[in-house]
Amino acid sequence: MNNRPEDLLKGLVQLSSLPVIYSKINEAVSNPRSSMKDISNIISDDPGLTSRLLQIVNSAFYSFPSKIETVSRALFIVGTQQVRDLALATSVMSLFKGIPEDLVNMESFWRHSVACGIGAKILATYRRCEMNVERFFAAGIIHDIGRLVLYKKIPEKAREMILRSRAEGKLLYAVEKETIGYDHSDLGRVLVGFWNLPPSLEEVVAYHHAPRNARRYPVETAVVHIADIIAHAMQLGSSGEHYIPCLDEKAWEIVGIPASVVSPTIDQIEREVNDVVQSLFGNPDNDEECKKKKVSV
Ligand SMILES: [Fe+2]
Ligand SMILES: [Fe+2]
Repeated sequence: MNNRPEDLLKGLVQLSSLPVIYSKINEAVSNPRSSMKDISNIISDDPGLTSRLLQIVNSAFYSFPSKIETVSRALFIVGTQQVRDLALATSVMSLFKGIPEDLVNMESFWRHSVACGIGAKILATYRRCEMNVERFFAAGIIHDIGRLVLYKKIPEKAREMILRSRAEGKLLYAVEKETIGYDHSDLGRVLVGFWNLPPSLEEVVAYHHAPRNARRYPVETAVVHIADIIAHAMQLGSSGEHYIPCLDEKAWEIVGIPASVVSPTIDQIEREVNDVVQSLFGNPDNDEECKKKKVSV
């Protein structure tokens, strides 16, 4: 029996640590003696990460007027902490392999996460006081990460829970809790803790379905909560949830921006999402693997 989320994470060796490259970037960014050149060298050592980062900074996510050709330029224009958070988002996406395609389509899963991340970034921009909106993007990317652990570790049970949620018209996270005693947010919180990610990310993941319970980072959590619901309503991809999760009416109050921003936020997500998914998954026209996986969502 896996009565605690910690038990389910045991044995997932490849998830016990994030790719070394992210830890190296994080260390360098946090070290005041590191130069921008040091950080740039670390990133440039990983061609896959370099290419994904350059694609995302040149995508509709930023819409910079001219092309950014090098990592050092990206660090200069976007900022070191911001590039670190983009690197986190793309590193996490490369970790989960071998999940049965009929259970969840990975492009669809990440499309939902990217839509939520973009939405969170846009909502944070409306707050004006947020200096690093990439942090919100990364939080949106990882908010449902616990679900991938369920799919990877207990695929049959996960399938059963998805079917039951649809048959009984119940939200999937409620069915998870009823069936295994905890849900994907509990599992995600433990995983983010294992990875030693910032406590704000841990809280966002833990409470993205119940933002009023977030004690230390209520704004980040409420922003991702609203962005998740917008991504669901737009039907951009799916993490396995068939229904739109309930909105905590306190969330707007916590975030402190008017609900009238929803409509322009939706328009902007629509403009950015394909470009960002393509940056992170590669160009499907040039990539046979992506071509096979491509689905209309
Ligand atoms: Fe969720
Ligand atoms: Fe979600």
